[in-house]
Amino acid sequence: MCGIVGCVTAGDEAPRILISSLKRLEYRGYDSAGLAILGDGEIETMREVGKLANLENSLGDKSIGGSTGLGHTRWATHGRPTEVNAHPHRDGSGRIVVVHNGIIENYRELRAELREKGHVFASDTDSEVIAHLVQSNFDGDLTDAVAQSIRRLKGAYAIGVMHADRPELIVGARKDCPLVVGLGEGANFLASDVTAVMDQTNRVVYLGDEEIATIRRETLEIRKLSGEAVDYTPTTISWSLAQAERGGYPHFMLKEIHEQPTVVSDTLLGRLDEDKGEIRLEELAIDDEILKGIKRVNIIACGTSWHAGHVAKFYIEQLARIPVDVDYASELRYRDPVLEEGGLVIAISQSGETADTIAAMRMAAKAGCKVVGVCNVIGSTIVREADGTIMTHAGPEIGVASTKAFVSQLVALLLFSLKLGRVRGVLSEGDIRKHCQRLRQLPHAVEAALQSEAHVREVALKYVSAQDFLFIGRGVNYPIALEGALKLKEISYIHAEGYPAGELKHGPIALLDEKLPVVAICTESTIYDKIVTNVEEARVRDAKMIVIASAGDDAIQEVADDVIYVPRMDELLSPIVNVVPLQLLSYFVARERGCDVDQPRNLAKSVTVE
Ligand code: G6P
Repeated sequence: MCGIVGCVTAGDEAPRILISSLKRLEYRGYDSAGLAILGDGEIETMREVGKLANLENSLGDKSIGGSTGLGHTRWATHGRPTEVNAHPHRDGSGRIVVVHNGIIENYRELRAELREKGHVFASDTDSEVIAHLVQSNFDGDLTDAVAQSIRRLKGAYAIGVMHADRPELIVGARKDCPLVVGLGEGANFLASDVTAVMDQTNRVVYLGDEEIATIRRETLEIRKLSGEAVDYTPTTISWSLAQAERGGYPHFMLKEIHEQPTVVSDTLLGRLDEDKGEIRLEELAIDDEILKGIKRVNIIACGTSWHAGHVAKFYIEQLARIPVDVDYASELRYRDPVLEEGGLVIAISQSGETADTIAAMRMAAKAGCKVVGVCNVIGSTIVREADGTIMTHAGPEIGVASTKAFVSQLVALLLFSLKLGRVRGVLSEGDIRKHCQRLRQLPHAVEAALQSEAHVREVALKYVSAQDFLFIGRGVNYPIALEGALKLKEISYIHAEGYPAGELKHGPIALLDEKLPVVAICTESTIYDKIVTNVEEARVRDAKMIVIASAGDDAIQEVADDVIYVPRMDELLSPIVNVVPLQLLSYFVARERGCDVDQPRNLAKSVTVE
């Protein structure tokens, strides 16, 4: 996830306007930032690694002015967060600049093709290819050149394009990434979301997929890829700025829960190759031969990431038939664990900066293990130190309680398990194809799970005064019960425990009475009947049963006080969908109790100390 902005104004104000717009988009990425300003027939670009403040400081030292410009704040996906990889990117002539948010899946093919024609590339990014493509298609009309270029792109993009010979003009286009045009007085703007233009105007036009906007100071023309003009109606935004930063949601957590369908597609993007029956994980950088020889996997993580590790144990054991241990990093580092040369260690961490996970990872590396980091922040310590990585593409997560990062970890770990299974011959090309087809449906299923929101809120209001909660699940959904309990205790301060449902009778059953709500994950699975029996055991002891069930399971109503339905899923994918109503449940309980949902007491987003 990156943020892009653009403006066409009068005078020399473009740098100031773009910096203030970018400040509102820092939530979309902050590992590097850049500007391109067009004045007097030349484009000047500035790029800085790190937060936007670095760009602002170096801009302060220079006297750059111009009426037209583009800006970018980056959350790296392809290529490390360096100045060379920061946007804007130029074509070879330096006359065309591009800012891009998204992932171009076929950039390698396009780059090879353009290299053959003599184009020289400066960065490791997928985005730079767009600048070169536009240049190769430019025949005097920038909009036409952009239209021809985006026909060649596979993947997702929102772009802003500018040409040094075309003053007071920017061209924008999008597919599967957001882009809006802000309509001002004698000035128009382009941005990844409305927050970035709200200082300037509250009239915006949301661009549709594969629509191309030609933006001048006084005019906006939108056309489809076919060339047909689009008749647009501006929307007037009535949100306050604070509301707008949260996308109109009352809390970042709710916004991030709603981003999950997009996060799932972003994490899958470019990684499913049905034609070859392959999973493509380029940053993994560990030879298939080495993966083939692995005898044991150790997973290390903390908090929510540790729960993702438990789901991964299930995935790897089932799909690749390798034994897996899952450890809290804070425990492993002070044990005398058996970590052997040739073992594989997976360090899961949203931030890539959790002190215990880093320490445990270093211990494993010293013992001769190969380390794979599953991380959301490129350039973080874990990404830098691991032998290979699988990036999770969730974009910056602001709410302290992890939601979308967790879901992206599950998707990344499933992809890795499929790859391991294929490399080791446990899965055939045909098996991978089938999994790919199911995975392609996953964003829609997560979207469908979000449809339960209003009902989950009603359920939450019924149990808002409970003192304790129990969450139960089995198999691949047992870690989801743990995660449901953690989410609730983190943000509502209600004591909650997650338990494997089969263990109820070995202790927790003593706690059951009419005051204890029990949340049971009871979706379709190979052990569905077993968990229904566990639900019945709890219900006959008067516990209030809140059941997460598969759509169409009417019979479950007989043993439940409340049923929350989710789409019917393949068992392996079910955790990714089942966690959604649990996140919503804890959110609404906490909100109703007046808790600080985004910044719960005593918790930190990234625990960089032991
Ligand atoms: C903190 C956060 C949790 C997170 C955990 C591990 O406790 O509040 O949400 O799961 O750290 O963080 P990591 O960045 O390593 O995934």
